[in-house]
Amino acid sequence: MDVYGLLGNPVEHSLSPPMHEAAYETLDIDARYVTFEPDENAGARAVESAATLDVAGLNVTIPFKQQVIEAVDPAPLAERIGAVNTIDFSTDPPTGYNTDAAGVVRSFTHHGVDLTGDAVVVGAGGAGRAVAFALADEGLTVHITNRTESKADDLAAAVAASHPDGDSAVMGYGLDALPDLVAEADLLVNATSVGMEEDRSPVPADVLHADLAVLDAVYSPLETRLLDDAAAAGATTVDGAWMLLFQGVEAFEQWTGRDAPVAEMNEALRTRV
Ligand code: ATR
Repeated sequence: MDVYGLLGNPVEHSLSPPMHEAAYETLDIDARYVTFEPDENAGARAVESAATLDVAGLNVTIPFKQQVIEAVDPAPLAERIGAVNTIDFSTDPPTGYNTDAAGVVRSFTHHGVDLTGDAVVVGAGGAGRAVAFALADEGLTVHITNRTESKADDLAAAVAASHPDGDSAVMGYGLDALPDLVAEADLLVNATSVGMEEDRSPVPADVLHADLAVLDAVYSPLETRLLDDAAAAGATTVDGAWMLLFQGVEAFEQWTGRDAPVAEMNEALRTRV
C-alpha cells in the first residue's frame, strides 16, 4: 500500500484526504492519504522523515510551502515561485512541484475561459504569487493589485525577472487602481482573504462586466459576495473549490502518471465544502 499525505499546520479541516481517496477508490489504487501536522518550523525535517518512512507523496500547505524547498529538488516552476505544494518521493532527493499554478490555469480552462488578454490579480501573498506566475506564463498581461502596494510591485518584479526574454508584461498597483483595471480586464482573480466567512467583496460591484471571467480563491463560503456580484453582471464565475480540486488533480497525476478521475474527486470535495 502506498502512503500519501498532507503536511500542514493546522490540517484537521483539510478536504484533500477525501478528494484523493475518492481517486484511489475509483481507479482501484491501493493507497491511503493521511494528514501530518508537525511543529511550525519542522517542515524540512518532516520531509526527510517522510522519505525515511517510504511515503510516496506529500502535499504541502501553510506554513510549510517555503520551508520544504531546502529538503527537495525543486522543479523549475516551483523554484521560480519559491513555494512547493507537492513532493514526489520516487526520486532521490525528492522532487518539489508547485501544482497551485496549474490548478489556476485548469480552473479557467475547465470553464471554457480563453487565457488571453489582461488579467487582474487582487492580492500579493502566497496565493497571489502562484496565480501571477501561472497567468504570466500563459502569456496574459498581468496587473497585480494589493492593499500594500509595495508587495504588488515586488511580486510583479519577481515574475518579470523570471521571464528574461521580456515576453511577459506584469505590473504592480495599489487597490485604488482596481476599478479602472477591472473595467478593461478579461480575467479577475481574488487571491486575498477578503470574503472568507464574511459578506464582503474586494472589488466594487459596479466595475464588473459580462466580458469578465472571475475566479475567487476563497472557498468558504463557495458563493462569495464577489462571485454573486460577478454573476449579476453577467460574468463567468469560477469558485475556489475548483482551484483546490485542480491542484489536487495535478498532484495525483504527477504522483501516479495516470489521468485523475476529475468528476469523482470533484464530487468528494463538493459534498464536504
Ligand atoms: P495567502 O497565502 O492566502 O495568500 P497571505 O500571504 O497572508 O495569505 O496574503 C493575504 C493577502 O490578502 C495579501 O495580499 C493581503 O494584503 P496585504 O499584503 O496588504 O496584507 C490581502 N488582504 C488580507 N486582508 C485584506 C483586506 N482586509 N483588504 C485587502 N487585502 C487584504
